[in-house]
Amino acid sequence: MRIGGIETRSIWLEPDGWSVGIFDQTVLPWRVERVTLRSATDATHAIASMQTRGAPLIGAVAAYGLALALREDGSDAALASAYGTLLAARPTAVNLKWALDAVSADVRPLPPAQRADAAYRRAAAICDEDVAINQAIGRNALPLIEAIAARKRDGAPVNILTHCNAGWLATVDLGTATAPIYLAHDRGIPVHVFVDETRPRNQGALLTAFELGQHGVPHTVIADNAGGHLMQHGQVDMVIVGTDRTTGHGDVCNKIGTYLKALAAKDNGVPFYVALPSPTLDFSLSDGIAEIPIEQRSAAEVTTMTGRTTSGAVESITIVPDGSPVANHAFDVTPARLVTGLITERGVIAASREALERAFPDHPSRQQARVAAE
Ligand code: MRU
Repeated sequence: MRIGGIETRSIWLEPDGWSVGIFDQTVLPWRVERVTLRSATDATHAIASMQTRGAPLIGAVAAYGLALALREDGSDAALASAYGTLLAARPTAVNLKWALDAVSADVRPLPPAQRADAAYRRAAAICDEDVAINQAIGRNALPLIEAIAARKRDGAPVNILTHCNAGWLATVDLGTATAPIYLAHDRGIPVHVFVDETRPRNQGALLTAFELGQHGVPHTVIADNAGGHLMQHGQVDMVIVGTDRTTGHGDVCNKIGTYLKALAAKDNGVPFYVALPSPTLDFSLSDGIAEIPIEQRSAAEVTTMTGRTTSGAVESITIVPDGSPVANHAFDVTPARLVTGLITERGVIAASREALERAFPDHPSRQQARVAAE
């Protein structure tokens, strides 16, 4: 990913070799600020406050959070305590649990003194694996974009609608939904992205627009409710979104509002794709609507808006009358029947149990699902 033309990842080990750097996503795009995490408490705070966010990146930060905890104390008790605190930081993205389980499985058999090093190694591997997965997602989805481009006249761009931020800021690098977009753009295929603003936190308007702009990808920010209208008028060729948890049956949980885009896409014959890295897959659940925990966040995210004033100051204003009750459901579930295809690192597959089981026979959550069933 590029910030100010400089290639960087969303998470890195600091020069001291043990503390962990991230960008503070709560101040982007107004300011580019880095935060140093020195303890599991710092990592938990960064995840819960959404300084760092996006399912794959939450997993990577949590993995390093365990390493930071074990650096201080390699005991079983310290491991269990940090695991529990980090896991509770955000409930919906399953990558958090996936990463904590992966690190725990590596360190548990080791003597306490060796656990921190092993945790750092696994956290670094999780980061590298995330980048490799996103590269594969990009490669696997590219033919979908190429096929649409081939039907276009006079070099007209392929119009892709996306929701929230499933870009490099939500991952270690490249993004999931954005990986094929960046690849297509870099290969000279004209693409244009409709970016849903994504209330209440505006990850689309603030973060996706920022990163597409940094990479020079043509894009237009639209109000959340505009997508259906654009689809009715033939202005959207495909939708690509990310996911925070996808069940073994292919039900897709993603940022609130994704479901409405899927309905509009279905009604208008627009293909609706979900970029799904395997750590976001949860075979232990089947009915997404009934079973996926939906995070309820602070009312303040709905009652206020933060932005830059004409004087250049960044300020929050209240947009709801005092005393009006507010609800803030952070995610929704798009049933598998509305999903045209899941773009995974192992290919583009149907959103169905059969296809997911065939593609991921070795997925760790299948083992967990079997144990739970016994
Ligand atoms: O609440 P957020 O900002 O963490 O939600 C992020 C999303 O919903 C993304 O679409 C999802 O995590 C996929 S990121 C590759």
